[in-house]
Amino acid sequence: METVLVVGATGNIGVSAVKAALRSKRSVLAVVRNQASADKLTKHVGSSEGITFVEANVASDSGVKGVVDKVRAGKLPAFQHVWSSVGGDYTTIPLAEITTDRLRYNMNHGFEANFFAYRDTIGYLLEQNHPSSTWTICTGAQGDLALFPLPAMTQGALFPFCKAAGRENLETNVRFNEVYLAFRVEVDEAAAQHGVTSATEFSYVYEQVLGRPDVRSSRVRVEGVEDIKELRFEKRV
Ligand SMILES: NC(=O)c1ccc[n+]([C@@H]2O[C@H](COP(=O)([O-])OP(=O)(O)OC[C@H]3O[C@@H](n4cnc5c(N)ncnc54)[C@H](OP(=O)(O)O)[C@@H]3O)[C@@H](O)[C@H]2O)c1
Repeated sequence: METVLVVGATGNIGVSAVKAALRSKRSVLAVVRNQASADKLTKHVGSSEGITFVEANVASDSGVKGVVDKVRAGKLPAFQHVWSSVGGDYTTIPLAEITTDRLRYNMNHGFEANFFAYRDTIGYLLEQNHPSSTWTICTGAQGDLALFPLPAMTQGALFPFCKAAGRENLETNVRFNEVYLAFRVEVDEAAAQHGVTSATEFSYVYEQVLGRPDVRSSRVRVEGVEDIKELRFEKRV
């Protein structure tokens, strides 16, 4: 059975990835920051069956590396796929009011943590040489719209990262893809309260990315709910 390492597993988008992995008969290695986060994920998914939890601080530049070290040592299950969606604040705070601490916190969680997740797992996936490995990240259209300046700046930094990773893996065993999301997705309970798309609905996007070898080095555009079932994607390199 294949395993998906999910970084940011307890968030709105991470829960969606966990659901997609489990539904497609894959198991999950979920990186969580503590037991409370693990419990939160179990509650959102409805069960912990098929999920192995590992605690790590993904905002630190040694967090994901430590997880990979444990996998290499046989203390955690091997994985063939990575999903990453670590996030910071989703706020409209104007530029002039963004403190240095808040800027750094958000660049760390919204950009660096996702970068560390890639940098410290890609070598492992290449070494394993599994023929259908994937590495997928969720970015937000805020990076173009900039209506929410703080998260927009983190997404803006992720765009060239995705392009470079797509190029670097054009011909490797790892299909790198960016899921570019242009509307709000929340865990099911919150989505119902706020009238937005649920993690369960959105999970069909990742399920398809996992199963479609033709989606490679691409931006998968999810700009309307109709894009969830019928993937729209374009090669970026
Ligand atoms: N939600 C959307 O509608 C949407 C739309 C477009 C793009 N996106 C993209 O998806 C990303 C995630 O969005 P989201 O709504 O899922 O955010 P979220 O609900 O705030 O989730 C963020 C995730 O990161 C984890 N995390 C943060 N700091 C951590 C740390 N130090 N150690 C371990 N885990 C840590 C959180 O863990 P805890 O649960 O423990 O806090 C959580 O799992 C965004 O930043 C953006 O790139 C989301």
